[in-house]
Amino acid sequence: MSQEEGKRRAGRAAMRFVEPGMIVGVGTGSTVAHFIDALGERRGDIEAAVSSSEQSSRLLRERGIPLVDLNSVGELALYVDGADECDPNRCLIKGGGAALTREKIIAAVSRQFVCIIDPSKRVEVLGRFPLPVEVIPMARSHVARQLVLLGGQPVWRDGVVTDNGNWILDVHNLRITDPVALEREINQIVGVVTVGLFAQRRADVVLTGEDG
Ligand code: A5P
Repeated sequence: MSQEEGKRRAGRAAMRFVEPGMIVGVGTGSTVAHFIDALGERRGDIEAAVSSSEQSSRLLRERGIPLVDLNSVGELALYVDGADECDPNRCLIKGGGAALTREKIIAAVSRQFVCIIDPSKRVEVLGRFPLPVEVIPMARSHVARQLVLLGGQPVWRDGVVTDNGNWILDVHNLRITDPVALEREINQIVGVVTVGLFAQRRADVVLTGEDG
């Protein structure tokens, strides 16, 4: 099975968690694009979506799915999103598409987080994929120095501005054996908006393309 086929199957498999009348939290990325395609086929069934990025908002609108502001709906029953890496405890690295902050907010307010990945995203230990960290622009160098002290090698994703007007550092050479502790530690650095480690609020369910 190709990686693309894995993404397509995982995206479609998430539809089994969608129930009539739901407001669905929708993540970002090429795997989620398949989920949005499938959601579009059942758009009459669901009430609306809460989107995690401008990119996903555009796709949702194109498929006629109404969007609502998270502040007007409170808790969500379901959030569906992809990931860049997933460990055996369902801890994730996310943010390859620079949408990590809104993704983390929606994950935090959702009762169930269904993660959709192709099988190549499964790892024993997180960190082969560089860890994205969204930073306030003026704090970029400060945060980078602190990340070096934690053993990483941060690289500025030059030219990328997030939907929130911030910048991204991609941290290489980490071997993340304690994701909860590292998430907490990076969150403490002044100037960090969001770290792309989803460990304290990890996925509840992981669907790979192999699930059929
Ligand atoms: C977006 O910021 C990311 O968190 C994505 O969920 C992640 O990069 C997975 O994207 P793909 O589905 O395109 O691999």
